Amino acid sequence: MRRGFIFPSAEIYGGAAGLWDYGPLGTKMKNSWENLWRKHFLRLDPNFYEISTTNILPKPVFEGSGHLESFNDALAECNSCHSRFRADQLIEEKLRISSEGMNLDEIKKIIKEKNLRCPRCGGDLNVKFFNLMFRLELGAGESVKEAYLRPETAQGAYLAFKRAFNILRNKLPIGLAIIGKSFRNEISPRQGFYRLREFHQAELQIFFDPDKMNEHERFDEIRKKKLRIYSIEDRGKETREVKCEDMDLPKFYLYYMSKIQDFYLEILKLPKEMFRFRELDENERAFYNRIHWDFELNIESLGGYKEMGGIHYRTDHDLSGHQRVSKENLMVNINGKKFIPHVLELSFGIDRNLWALLDLGYEKEEERTVLKLPVNVAPYFCAVFPLMRKEELVKKAKELYNIISSEFSTMYDETGSIGKRYRRQDEIGTPYCITIDYDTLENDTVTLRDRDTMKQERVSIKEIIEILNKKLR
Ligand code: GLY
Repeated sequence: MRRGFIFPSAEIYGGAAGLWDYGPLGTKMKNSWENLWRKHFLRLDPNFYEISTTNILPKPVFEGSGHLESFNDALAECNSCHSRFRADQLIEEKLRISSEGMNLDEIKKIIKEKNLRCPRCGGDLNVKFFNLMFRLELGAGESVKEAYLRPETAQGAYLAFKRAFNILRNKLPIGLAIIGKSFRNEISPRQGFYRLREFHQAELQIFFDPDKMNEHERFDEIRKKKLRIYSIEDRGKETREVKCEDMDLPKFYLYYMSKIQDFYLEILKLPKEMFRFRELDENERAFYNRIHWDFELNIESLGGYKEMGGIHYRTDHDLSGHQRVSKENLMVNINGKKFIPHVLELSFGIDRNLWALLDLGYEKEEERTVLKLPVNVAPYFCAVFPLMRKEELVKKAKELYNIISSEFSTMYDETGSIGKRYRRQDEIGTPYCITIDYDTLENDTVTLRDRDTMKQERVSIKEIIEILNKKLR
């Protein structure tokens, strides 16, 4: 799979739908993406921090968050063969209409009216809601407690809020980021790596005073910045570019929208046509959101724009819910004003972001396959080769590898012809290859080859670190 980036989990047992492992290259790429994310988002405010919280949470947490009641998909089960299908997918595939936002009764009605039957055996379908969380038992015997695997990292930050707020000087806004795994028992995980049952999220929860929603101290920096948007009114039309100051959204929200766009266009340097924000309507929004725009990348293998994450104004939904169920006071007191902070959530699905980068970067050219990954997420930034496996060249190449690999993620390869070695690096997306040849032994210069142009330049070993640093920046 994609040259060792990802593999089906438990492959020797036939695998399991919605479960995937990262191989050596995929893990390197994932780590790089996560570090870029940290560097970009945690720097936006000195009061933003990363925390790490548990995957398993006791049942009352999900009473407070509303997931036990509302985190459901409609399941269509065949009364004869007992095959199970996602009702919305069945309606979409068979009737070519969207069931987005329909409630259970509406879904049942349409399945009955249109006489949709089991695609496997033609039997009658019974439709019911199915909660997407994985249920667990904590402990054994009489003390057993019901628990769930978290369906989003977000809840860990809400549970940690009170403590973090007190430790971190009682100041708003405060941001708590979590990078980690989440779990959803998708009825029929489709589209390979895009919808998983165990997946990775990078989420930042920003707790703020709702009276200050229409301000951000750095708004002037982004006022003229154009966002690429596809609003509810734009449906069926083209993506537009609109200046932040002309958008009808709160300034606090817009500031973070612009920083998300920067992450894709300025940090990952993706072509801007690949990116857009898509506004979700009332029926499409998750149950906890009041304002919800997804950010999307255009993924050819999945047929168009696909959600990479969302920017969610969750109001005080979560903290109020946890206060009600836990009976813990989660109000803050800022200069005598007591209130429950509101939350703006920046939520990224890491796996789908990596999939999109692999998809966007993949090119089959006449004489080679090349993976044009952003230089800052490619598993290896450079590779060092001796031109041939001759002792003096190998010795010099290993010396250079030792120097360069202390600064950059570097691969060493002396196997096969030089042409084959370039191709291997092209296929795994390594942006630069450095070759030691006989001229190196004479004048301490090497060739530096660029993955995208395949052009080579001759550079001095003394300057190589500085040159590579410039290219990485
Ligand atoms: N925390 C929001 C989401 O999982 O989509």
